[in-house]
Amino acid sequence: MGYLQKQNNPPMLKDLQESWQQEPTPFYLYDLDLLRQTLEKARNAAAQYNFQVHYALKANSNKPVLRLIQEFGFGADCVSGNEVKRALKRGFVPEHIVFAGVGKSDAEINFALQHNIFCFNCESSQELEVIDALAGKQGKVARVALRINPNVDANTHKYITTGLEENKFGINMWELEGVMALLQQCENLELIGIHFHIGSQITDLNVFKNLCSRVNEIQQWFISRGIQLPHLNVGGGLGVDYYQPDENPISDFESYFAIFNEHLEVQPGQQVHFELGRALVAQSGSLISRVLYVKKGLTTNFAILDAGMTELLRPMLYQAYHKIENLTSQGPEVKYNVVGPICESTDCFAKDVFLPETQRNDFVAIRTAGAYGEVMASEYNLRDKAKAVYLGLEVKSV
Ligand code: LLP
Repeated sequence: MGYLQKQNNPPMLKDLQESWQQEPTPFYLYDLDLLRQTLEKARNAAAQYNFQVHYALKANSNKPVLRLIQEFGFGADCVSGNEVKRALKRGFVPEHIVFAGVGKSDAEINFALQHNIFCFNCESSQELEVIDALAGKQGKVARVALRINPNVDANTHKYITTGLEENKFGINMWELEGVMALLQQCENLELIGIHFHIGSQITDLNVFKNLCSRVNEIQQWFISRGIQLPHLNVGGGLGVDYYQPDENPISDFESYFAIFNEHLEVQPGQQVHFELGRALVAQSGSLISRVLYVKKGLTTNFAILDAGMTELLRPMLYQAYHKIENLTSQGPEVKYNVVGPICESTDCFAKDVFLPETQRNDFVAIRTAGAYGEVMASEYNLRDKAKAVYLGLEVKSV
């Protein structure tokens, strides 16, 4: 019961076990105390340098999670009209909401304009033209930032790298002259800054130094043309420790922000923004599942869970590692392929993992699932949506 003992809180453990008996598996279990501690560390580390952090809703948009994040004073980084709607509903003020994304629809842009959000992070000339026209129709001036592709390798999985010229994201440097000429003609747009995001689950902090160098060079491009940018948004991407979630439950926000403080050439009066998702919420969530069956294959044993790729897609989509723990059985370890019930061979959480000899009905925790877990769930095979259970000052289901 590794995870639960770490809570070091006997009454809560008892409550939790009671709730486990009642909750149908699989379900997501969120530790709101850990989330609070994480948010506090991130907020305090950023505050030292007056950095502003927007939370990337795409990582997890559950009500108690968003409420807490909003209460801690983070802004909202949204990538769809529905995320903007959700952020507003959860109390984020429009002045702290940004709308990013490479393919914003007219309806989504109109909605965000109606609500006077802080800024649109724009990714193409055509998008600028559309926002200009739609803002004009509403009699408004839209604040925009240009998402520039810095061509920096994030050194992460190729599926979650975004800052290379071959990626679909952002405006490339060679397009910038044309984009600036276009902006001159867009009467309903106000350019307030530039935006970068190079990828996700970045664990080598040197990558952020490279990002800073590129951002400094790109800033010079604007300065040399006499263009002042009040806002500088360097995106998100800070990784978490999927291998040792108990040893490192909170990412090193201190070092992360210190790098930007040291290496970014912030212009006088310029506000620096970050868009963190994973590092704020990943460790607070686990997917709790029950073992349905244990069976012997030709070369390996299978532990067949009642959770699958419909609840947590990351291992199947990115070959991502999530630590798996048997919370019920103890004793000598046996090697398993831990798989789900979905009718796909790829529905496998992990191959060749050692777990205590596993029995039908054992509880299993798949750790570090608070980010890009529930939000990427699907109904494939007509599956029910897994519930969320929250541990915090009180235990409750939502
Ligand atoms: N800003 C932009 C423009 C982004 O595209 C993203 C994530 C973020 C901020 C937040 O990045 P974070 O701090 O969470 O790394 N589903 C994948 C991750 C996709 C990330 C997409 N963009 C996964 O499960 O690993």
